[in-house]
Amino acid sequence: MEENKTSLSDTDFNKLASFIYTNYGIKLPITKKIMLESRLRPRLRINNMESYREYCQYVLSGKCSESEIVNMIDLVSTNKTDFYRESAHFDFMLDVVLPEYYENNSEKTFKVWSSASSSGEESYTIAIVISEFMEGKRPFDFHILGTDISTRIIEKASLAVYPLDRVDVIPLAQKKKYLLRGKDLENPTVRIVPELRSKTLFKRLNLMDNSYDVPKDFDLIFCRNVLIYFDRETQENVINKLCNQLKKGGYLFLGHSESISGYDVPLKQIKPTMYQKI
Ligand SMILES: C[S@@+](CC[C@H](N)C(=O)[O-])C[C@H]1O[C@@H](n2cnc3c(N)ncnc32)[C@H](O)[C@@H]1O
Repeated sequence: MEENKTSLSDTDFNKLASFIYTNYGIKLPITKKIMLESRLRPRLRINNMESYREYCQYVLSGKCSESEIVNMIDLVSTNKTDFYRESAHFDFMLDVVLPEYYENNSEKTFKVWSSASSSGEESYTIAIVISEFMEGKRPFDFHILGTDISTRIIEKASLAVYPLDRVDVIPLAQKKKYLLRGKDLENPTVRIVPELRSKTLFKRLNLMDNSYDVPKDFDLIFCRNVLIYFDRETQENVINKLCNQLKKGGYLFLGHSESISGYDVPLKQIKPTMYQKI
């Protein structure tokens, strides 16, 4: 396509897409060009740039600020998530993972990592499930780390405020225990109770990094609905790096359409999308 100040050329799209894929693992096929163009438009204005060409050259120059890269990645990541999404994992936590931990290790903190946490629904569902399991039992300590590439989404997760309709799926009895109603009646929201928020921590982490600056002794890692963006080799690398942070006997959960079949990784399959470190 002819270079034009107000549109993103195929050449510049391909350069940006390749940069994003190499460094962040996010695939952007050419069909996403219009989406990228419209999402980047405000970044041109904010950076006082007149054309997509100028923006593209800036990003690829090696002199681009880290914050601009972070902003750009925020715009291209897909953050769809839900409370109790793919609920078989939470059933398995209640039926197997938590009872095993409770029998054998409950003097140690139960540690979970939600490694593509998006806006926090996954982490808070985990916190609710653990709290429900603990009811009527000897209390134990637990901690949930949520990480994501997108800083915007990490801020949302830390805030823990959700529109009322997002929590429909949470059973009423749990809503009463773990959610607080906001005061704004026009835009009804809920906030996760401080007791659960204090058990979580959110920070930015790129799964494409060579190693992960997180604890090495997780009991359980969720890596759901993010591997689909990566190619096979990257998926295998990411899984191996996750396994380095998982206790022997610890569990790894993947998303419903993700699998490690044929990968050279220290895991045995327990159920579809559920694995245990060997
Ligand atoms: C579709 S959401 C999945 C959220 C949640 N795990 C679930 O299953 O509901 C995928 C998340 O992966 C994040 N992501 C994409 N690439 C990433 C990377 N390289 N490192 C860390 N997070 C990444 C996105 O920002 C997004 O929030």
